[in-house]
Amino acid sequence: MFSIPIFQNVYITSSRFLVRYTRSLFSDNHYRVGIVGSGPAGFYTAQRLLKLNSNVRVDIIERLPTPFGLVRYGVAPDHPEVKNVITNFTNLLKDTRCRFYGNISVGTDISLSQLFTYYSAIVLAYGADSDRKLEIPGENAKGFLSARRFVGWYNGLPEDVSLDVDLSSQTAVIIGQGNVAIDVARILLTPTEQLEKTDICNHALLALRESKIQRVVLVGRRGPLQVAFTIKELRELLKLKQITTLLTKEDHDFLEPIISTLPRGRKRLIELLYKTSRQSLHTETSNKCLEISYLRSPTIINTNTEGKINSITFEVNKLQDHNSINTKAIGTGVYETIECGIAFRSIGYKSIPILESVPFDNIKHVIPNERGKVTHLDGTLYKGLYCSGWIKRGPVGVIASTMNDAYETAERVHEDLTADTLQSFNTDFKLSDLIPEGHRMVNYTDWSSLDTEEVSRGGESKPREKITSIQEMIRIMNNK
Ligand SMILES: Cc1cc2nc3c(=O)[nH]c(=O)nc-3n(C[C@H](O)[C@H](O)[C@H](O)COP(=O)(O)OP(=O)(O)OC[C@H]3O[C@@H](n4cnc5c(N)ncnc54)[C@H](O)[C@@H]3O)c2cc1C
Ligand SMILES: NC(=O)c1ccc[n+]([C@@H]2O[C@H](COP(=O)([O-])OP(=O)(O)OC[C@H]3O[C@@H](n4cnc5c(N)ncnc54)[C@H](OP(=O)(O)O)[C@@H]3O)[C@@H](O)[C@H]2O)c1
Repeated sequence: MFSIPIFQNVYITSSRFLVRYTRSLFSDNHYRVGIVGSGPAGFYTAQRLLKLNSNVRVDIIERLPTPFGLVRYGVAPDHPEVKNVITNFTNLLKDTRCRFYGNISVGTDISLSQLFTYYSAIVLAYGADSDRKLEIPGENAKGFLSARRFVGWYNGLPEDVSLDVDLSSQTAVIIGQGNVAIDVARILLTPTEQLEKTDICNHALLALRESKIQRVVLVGRRGPLQVAFTIKELRELLKLKQITTLLTKEDHDFLEPIISTLPRGRKRLIELLYKTSRQSLHTETSNKCLEISYLRSPTIINTNTEGKINSITFEVNKLQDHNSINTKAIGTGVYETIECGIAFRSIGYKSIPILESVPFDNIKHVIPNERGKVTHLDGTLYKGLYCSGWIKRGPVGVIASTMNDAYETAERVHEDLTADTLQSFNTDFKLSDLIPEGHRMVNYTDWSSLDTEEVSRGGESKPREKITSIQEMIRIMNNK
């Protein structure tokens, strides 16, 4: 403990105050926060932090040359209203306190220890770039696709655009009954005249125009009461023109007496399923159909002699408790087969560790944390390291829930900044100083030129035509 005079007769008597006093002598003293990932979690964390603390500068570091994560590469092309958040995120990139560094993969191009040299705090917001597996025979068969990669394919994610999507057969099976499964079903069933007005990539549109798929079967391992999709998404699917929905009465009969006892949100969804099951009739104008099937777990992906999927064997399940939402499915030992030429595994995304030194929960596939502050596996706090979004709480939730979650993380970072436990800086710094020469980093101006080019390529009819090759993106940025 020591004392120094700051004004006559006024003394600072602790080391913390000394630090604050010394910093105040430098007018540009600030905290730097590095955010890894430019999806909603990254942007909302940045936005909240900049609002909470005028002394913070934020760098958003993204592995792709393009910002916005799943808003660009996940959200369905026919949901343009959801993508309006991009306007909000773009405004943030125009703020002088926020910089975008694209085409830098943390863990590959730059290490955590390098980042800690220059940042007061690091927030990991890198989402879920993998997906869950069924772990059954035949899962690698040709034509058995990850829904995540199919989504990347139609949305122009560079690593997925060359996915082999063969739509030449009549039946497509989708395993899983969440909103991603609904997106996949809708893309397969929507008349292409509707899709061509969206920002769906041209290669996908061309393939869908030639598609021979007439029947899409959405298969769940549990019952109608336990579906993971939500009412708005189901309603949209049911309203598709020229599509018949086939829901059997038998599957839904048991729901009638319990509908009124369900919580509000669930009640409306189950009511819609129940009512639809009473009306499922082929109309004369329909040429395609959607079937929703329950209580079936896939056990084998069957293939022809060329290794291409031709059917899936399912075990019929029963539920431990038919009327409970949280019940478990149990196999009955009875099997049946659905013939199909293409199928999708849509059972959830999965986060993976990208940095060896960062604790990772290998069961929940998230970074362990306490209100967004990373903890070691023994529960102790990791100084200066935070997480946000899907990597923090798992691959569930819409943009609004990701926003709330990101706000919590930003508030946690702010707490530590105000408690003065993190390092501050009084010099400027550019992330490019850490990147090997020759590596093309992408800044906001680069992204803007790419954005303009995409919008221009979209012409009169589409909001944009996405550029799907990283090389081409860089060429366009270099030429502007
Ligand atoms: C197919 C699909 C459709 C959806 N549709 C909707 C919808 O219509 N409405 C809605 O509200 N919600 C929707 N959601 C949910 C929404 O997309 C998520 O809640 C949200 O994107 C999660 O945000 P995030 O920032 O955690 O992850 P992400 O959006 O995945 O962002 C993570 C970012 O980190 C980057 N990254 C990964 N690794 C690294 C690395 N090593 N270094 C640097 N950067 C890295 C990624 O490239 C990505 O840009 C959808 C989700 C999916 C999967
Ligand atoms: N329009 C939108 O707002 C939109 C669009 C897309 C995605 N999203 C959001 O993004 C998040 C992720 O969506 P998601 O569809 O990937 O995940 P999800 O909502 O978690 O759904 C996963 C589905 O897969 C099933 N499943 C899991 N493991 C399985 C297994 N081993 N065998 C068979 N089935 C299995 C689940 O069934 P059980 O319930 O039995 O486990 C569930 O039906 C969700 O929060 C979703 O709402 C939103």
